[in-house]
Parts: sequence; structure tokens; C-alpha cells
Amino acid sequence: MKKDYFIAALDIGTTKVSIVVGVPGPNGIDIVGLGIAPNQGLKKGVVVNIEQTTEAICQAREEAELMAGLKISEVWVSVSGSVTKSFDSKGMVAIRDKEIANNDIARVVEAAKAVAVPSDRDVIHVLPREFKVDDQDGILDPIGMSGVRLESSVHIVTAGHTALQNLIKCTERAGLKVAGLVLEQYASALSVLTEDEKQLGVAVVDIGGGTSDIVIISQGSIAYTASIALGGNTITNDIAVGLRTPHTSAEVLKKKYGCAVANLVDAQESIEVEGVGGRRERTVFRQHLCEVIEPRAEEMLQFINAELQKSGLTGLLGSGVVITGGGSQLDGLVELGEFVFDMPVRRAGPSGFGGITDIVKAPQFATGVGLLFYGNKNTKNIKGITKAVAGQWMTKLRDLIDSAF
Ligand SMILES: Nc1ncnc2c1ncn2[C@@H]1O[C@H](COP(=O)(O)OP(=O)(O)OP(=O)(O)O)[C@@H](O)[C@H]1O
Ligand SMILES: [Mg+2]
Repeated sequence: MKKDYFIAALDIGTTKVSIVVGVPGPNGIDIVGLGIAPNQGLKKGVVVNIEQTTEAICQAREEAELMAGLKISEVWVSVSGSVTKSFDSKGMVAIRDKEIANNDIARVVEAAKAVAVPSDRDVIHVLPREFKVDDQDGILDPIGMSGVRLESSVHIVTAGHTALQNLIKCTERAGLKVAGLVLEQYASALSVLTEDEKQLGVAVVDIGGGTSDIVIISQGSIAYTASIALGGNTITNDIAVGLRTPHTSAEVLKKKYGCAVANLVDAQESIEVEGVGGRRERTVFRQHLCEVIEPRAEEMLQFINAELQKSGLTGLLGSGVVITGGGSQLDGLVELGEFVFDMPVRRAGPSGFGGITDIVKAPQFATGVGLLFYGNKNTKNIKGITKAVAGQWMTKLRDLIDSAF
């Protein structure tokens, strides 16, 4: 396989760091390398230990390079929803030559960006939602249209400055350059959604270890983002306490026998539970394990639902909710989600790529694969720009083409 040109993505998560390597081809991306390392350097999406995170990135990098048979120097990096805040903004400009050109769009998006962002936050995405030409609204691609006034409505995502600096520091200490920073749940949405879902309106919830990150897509663009500080780890902790078992056993029990709806499991089935501090193994009903899981899973979904309601956009979610991320794999979560959200729920992993699909299609790689899709789209566009223009408009165009949908 030709590997002159490849893209690498680095997903720095609360439980694991993963690096995915892809080679773009005529039929999309072929994934040729994957490296995973457990990570203890993050708490709820925020770097709390630079050494441990750097070490995990180095490990994942080595593994991915070995599998792909190449050296990675630059990566697209995910930013957890827990350190980001987003809001809508509007901009307006006069159209220069009566016909809308690329630079009018750059100017109008720039105008929408001219809002006061606190000095301790950095803008990571400016995502155009729709444009208005004179009095006609709802326009997605105004290039070439005639008019005198162009208005834009954009969604701006900002992230805490220190949190970002620490992410960049860990990546650079691991010998990697940051090609770009992408909101985690935005990346996940790119890899798990179908075209219909994006158009009809959908909420994507990436349930990770430390956080559950939400993004609402309406009419093909981002309309709302949020994050809650509950994820798969919270459920594991409850099992460890509730069944008095070590954390590692609680994790295994959750994955093997866990279910978010206790009534769905056989009432007679029993399981062995390891004791703490060398105490004897005990036999408990599987349903008892699920009774520990159910209230916490329901609480997590209630918090997610509260965010969906807060967005005021539930009426636009024609395709319901898509859950992804490692935590979405808990049995019964789709059923419980449909009950809590009162909407159809689908569990999804990343799709739309070739290569080592078997491993990478698992929901915990949604962010990594989405980062590759995002990187591919943005790199290609930037490469297509002539050099002189690129120098002058690079930042603006990067923002524009941010609309990776
Ligand atoms: N089969 C499974 N059943 C239930 N839970 C699972 C399963 N597989 C993985 N998980 C849970 O998924 C979580 C990890 O998910 P993921 O790898 O997406 O998180 P992360 O990206 O490291 O964290 P975050 O996105 O919160 O920073 C863990 O809590 C783990 O227990
Ligand atoms: Mg994650």
C-alpha cells in the first residue's frame, strides 16, 4: 500500500490514549495503524499529570508506528468536552462585488468571531451554521449568489487556555507536533452519523470513562454542545463499592455481566465476585449487580436529557439520539435511553473507512476515526489553496472549512 501521505489522530481520553493512522485514498480513508495505552494522567477529561499522559502517548505512538510501518510526526488532537464552552454568534458584511465570493465568506465569519471571549479561553472552532443573503435566510452555501448584504450565523467553541496548553505540552513532549485541535464529540459525530441523521437532526452522546460529551447536529451543522461529568468509570466505582470488590474486578463484571436494566437479566443467574483484601469469593445474583448499575446509569441519562432539554432543540431531533464511546457498550443502555429520552436511541461505532476495520469499528474509537476524517478534509482543502492566498487567508479559511460536515 502507498503510504507517502498519511494522517494521524491522537485521542487523549480519561481511560486510554489512542493513536489511529490512516491513508487517504480515492474511496476514503484506510486505517493502517492503531496504538492504545491506558492513561491515568487525566481526570474527567482534564490533564492532571503531564508525565503519565506523555508516557501513555509515547506508548500508543510506538505501537501505532510499528503496526503502520511509518514514523508519525504530526497529529490531530481531541479536546474533551469538559474543558470547552460554546455559544452562537452572528456577523454581517456588505458584499463587495455584488456576487458572493470566498473572501466575503471569510469576512462575514470573521465578523461573527468578533465577540468578547474571556482571556483565559481560546477559540478552537468557528462552525458556520447558515447564511442569510439580504432577506433570504437558511442558505448553507452562498458562494456565487447575488446580493448586497451577507449575514452569517456561527457556532463558536472555546476551550480553557491552561487545559489546552497542557494537552499541547504532553503531545509535544511525546515528540509530536499538533496539526489541529478538535472537540471530542464533534470528531465522534463525524465518524458515527449517517447523512440522513445529520440532515434530520440528531444528538450524539460520547459516553467515555470520565465524561459524557454531547453534540446536537441540526440541518447538517452543529447547534449545541455540552458535557456532563459522569461516564463509565462512575458505574465501575459504584460496582466496586456496592459489591465490595476490587476496581479491576468491578470493571470486568460490568463488561461481562452488566446491564443497565436489571429486569432484562435472568433472575436465577448467579456470578462469582472477588473479595477485597484477600477475602473469599462470593456468589451473588447477576440481577443484584445490575441493580447497582441501573440507578447510576439512569442518573447519567437523566443528566444528559436535562442538557438536551436545556438546548431547546429537542423538537429538531428527528433522528433521535446516537450513543457512542466505550461506555455506550453497556448492555441495556439503548433500552434505558429510549425510556429516559422518549426518543429512538442507536448505539454506534465509527464507520465509512477501510483497512483494519475489525478493531477500529468499536465505539471507543469513534473520536480517533472522526479526527482522521476531520484532518483529511482540512488538510486537503488547505493543500488546494495557492501559496500566496494560503499565507494571507490561512487562519480564516481554516475556520471556514471547519464545517467538516
Ligand atoms: N463492553 C463494555 N461494557 C460496558 N462498558 C464498557 C465496555 N467497554 C468499555 N466500557 C467502558 O467504557 C469506558 C471507556 O470509554 P472510552 O474509551 O470511550 O473513554 P475515554 O475516551 O478514555 O474517556 P473520556 O472520553 O471520558 O475522556 C470505561 O468506563 C469502560 O468501562
Ligand atoms: Mg473519549
